[in-house]
Amino acid sequence: MADFVKPPDLAKNLTNCGPEYHRQRLIHILQMAYSGELAAALAYAGHWRAAWKQTERQDIHRIEMDEWHHRAGLLKMLHDLGAKPVLWRDLMMRSLGSVIFLACFVSGWYMPMYFAGRLEQANIQEYEDAAYHASNLGLEQYAAIFKVYAQKEVEHEQYFFNLIAKHWLTPIMKSIFHYGPNRP
Ligand SMILES: [Fe+2]
Ligand SMILES: [Fe+2]
Repeated sequence: MADFVKPPDLAKNLTNCGPEYHRQRLIHILQMAYSGELAAALAYAGHWRAAWKQTERQDIHRIEMDEWHHRAGLLKMLHDLGAKPVLWRDLMMRSLGSVIFLACFVSGWYMPMYFAGRLEQANIQEYEDAAYHASNLGLEQYAAIFKVYAQKEVEHEQYFFNLIAKHWLTPIMKSIFHYGPNRP
């Protein structure tokens, strides 16, 4: 069970890019990602249970386990940095994940697949940013882990995009949200 802290004071007053700036940015990203992984894991827990195909159930369940694994790793890093998760953020993401969990059972096949891919893209950027700040702090072992996490999120995104690439709704969704698989 994680301890929690109040929302962090962001590094907005730190005008330079020294170690304290990178440390604050890294902790902030870890706190956001820690709770984001909770929402993702809960969403996927509903997603695979709502899927009909056995292969999709197994694949999405595996993705859910990846997100729990990421969350556990982030918590350990926060502790190592002398920081804690943010309670309000975790509660908000738990609520969001629970809503998506339930929505997966009524929203049909396509929408969870499309928005899962979109969610993954945000996670990729988050871990690339974390790797950048960790490198600037000389925390190369963290940077390496973030790159592994980012690569895993790329694989997740690709998985969902492969499923929807040829669906008739995809061109429409891409025209609305300007996001989707890069296929004709
Ligand atoms: Fe993840
Ligand atoms: Fe993911």
